[in-house]
Amino acid sequence: MAIPPRFLEELRARIPLAPLIGRATRLTRAGRNWKGCCPFHQEKTPSFYVYDDHFHCFGCGAHGDAVSFLMQREGLSFLEAVERLAAEAGLELPRPDPEAARRQARARDLHAVLAAAEAAFIRRLASPEGRAAREYLAGRGLTPEIIARFGLGWSGEGRGALAAELRAEGIELPQLIEAGLMQAREDRAVDLFFRRVMFPIRDRAGRTIGFGGRSLGEGQPKYVNSPETPLFSKRRSLYGIDLAREAVFRGARLIVVEGYMDVIALHQAGLAGAVAPLGTALTPEQLEALWAISPEPVLCFDGDAAGARAMARAAEVALPLLRPERRLLFASLPAGEDPDSLLRRGGSMEPVLAAARPLHEVLFDLLREGQGLAAPEERAAFRKRLLAAAEAIPDRALAAEYRRELLDRFHALTGRPRGAPPPKPAPPRPRPGAQTRLEQARLLLATLLHHPWLFLEEEERLALTELPAGPAAALRAAMLAHPPAARQDAASWQDQLRRTAGVGEALAWALTAPALPAGALPDAPPEEAAACFRHFHARLQGEAALLAELEAARAEARANPSPELLARVQRLAEACAAHRRGEWHADSAEG
Ligand code: UTP
Ligand code: MN
Repeated sequence: MAIPPRFLEELRARIPLAPLIGRATRLTRAGRNWKGCCPFHQEKTPSFYVYDDHFHCFGCGAHGDAVSFLMQREGLSFLEAVERLAAEAGLELPRPDPEAARRQARARDLHAVLAAAEAAFIRRLASPEGRAAREYLAGRGLTPEIIARFGLGWSGEGRGALAAELRAEGIELPQLIEAGLMQAREDRAVDLFFRRVMFPIRDRAGRTIGFGGRSLGEGQPKYVNSPETPLFSKRRSLYGIDLAREAVFRGARLIVVEGYMDVIALHQAGLAGAVAPLGTALTPEQLEALWAISPEPVLCFDGDAAGARAMARAAEVALPLLRPERRLLFASLPAGEDPDSLLRRGGSMEPVLAAARPLHEVLFDLLREGQGLAAPEERAAFRKRLLAAAEAIPDRALAAEYRRELLDRFHALTGRPRGAPPPKPAPPRPRPGAQTRLEQARLLLATLLHHPWLFLEEEERLALTELPAGPAAALRAAMLAHPPAARQDAASWQDQLRRTAGVGEALAWALTAPALPAGALPDAPPEEAAACFRHFHARLQGEAALLAELEAARAEARANPSPELLARVQRLAEACAAHRRGEWHADSAEG
């Protein structure tokens, strides 16, 4: 049964915390608050403090309110703890709301469906059909214990086998569809996962809410993930959060890495506080979830340019959420290496983690990236950006400290010794193809604005694409800050952007004339919209990325010359040619 938040507030107001906790450990006054020896770990000198509405142990990190105190201290469930406190406070539990109860029963059913699927995948991995997957996992160095701890499994071949097996347990097709394990097509339902190693994705409490599935070897896409379901939201979930929460509680560092395999490799190397987002940039929700576990998570990024962009993006998301007790560390991996590959070749994460730098230190360098400082205008613009970053921090005192820190560095950098010849500012040179790029960015954004589901799938790529400054960049920032809800329709999302983000003008720029290509139109079928996004994304990525994609498609087509793959090769080849023509025109027009 769901307890309304208002009832909980009332309950907390009526139960003073100190007498409740005073039954478990002797408390003495410490100013307005109370302190004592922590009831959750052995200690001789008190480091456990009780405030008006919460307790905190500076020794072991135990933290919570009256309800969580009873849960942790006496092993009660949430509901049991609330019932106990309500009885003490003389409050009556609110009557269950039938609609909420129905929702909860359905969620419970879905959890059972996912648990049954997970068990089936684990059985398959152990059976003869799981042999190739077992060999694959062993080849990647995973021990049987680690495979069991993460509940890894094998999907089987698909073709409805999972549905047939689970039907025997009373699970019907519509439930499999709602759980994101199957997809309804026109006349039948098809498996979402087949011939894949299955990675259960769990919530904080360790309940499976979705899956990632990896192909054996080089098949594309490398991972398929569960779609958004009533239980699973990609932007709210972190892979490994259940195990990391426990480990961090026992003193491990909370480490954020990029992929499933990285989390598992860190565990196997004894770093059990590892989690990963699910192939997207860190969202505000995920940062909140991290800080709920540890005051100082370490974010690990690739040592290359994409890693630097991802780092900048994480810093940007973090600033508005900062508070004095919430810190963030940034660590850089050796270029071209992820934690899994680093550990596999006998490297260690320790130097990487030891070199991690706090946000206030990396922030300056991130903002400095690509910023000229020769002309007064450039320095003024840079100074503005520094101040704006500090301004994004809501806590006034902390914002002031950041401002000071950033400006100190600014002065240290720009204060030139007297008598030195003033540097000549480089004449501003418009980027080649600036107009073309702006139009490509417009069409990319228009496609996503008309297809919010596609935005949710491509959010990460969008965040990491280089877009021209001005309306394109502003619109993207607003879209990332106000993402659509799952299944929100395009018109209402656009309306929300217009009202809450105030980007009406940029929206009009993106969506009105000149005309949009078919794939960007509101009524384009999903595959066409996705292809349209990919097309403009590839162009904005530049020629190197396009050529790499073409190479990959050619290799794939050689192995499997299907009409679709051949058509894809041709499209990419044309895109490369068009890209070259576009830049050539712009360059020659300037020169
Ligand atoms: P990586 O390609 O770094 O994956 O993508 P990885 O975990 O290191 O996997 P291995 O080592 O090649 O097996 C990082 C994360 O991005 C998401 C997954 O969550 C993955 O763990 N991803 C990647 C996808 O969702 N789909 C993909 O096709 C690729
Ligand atoms: Mn990897």
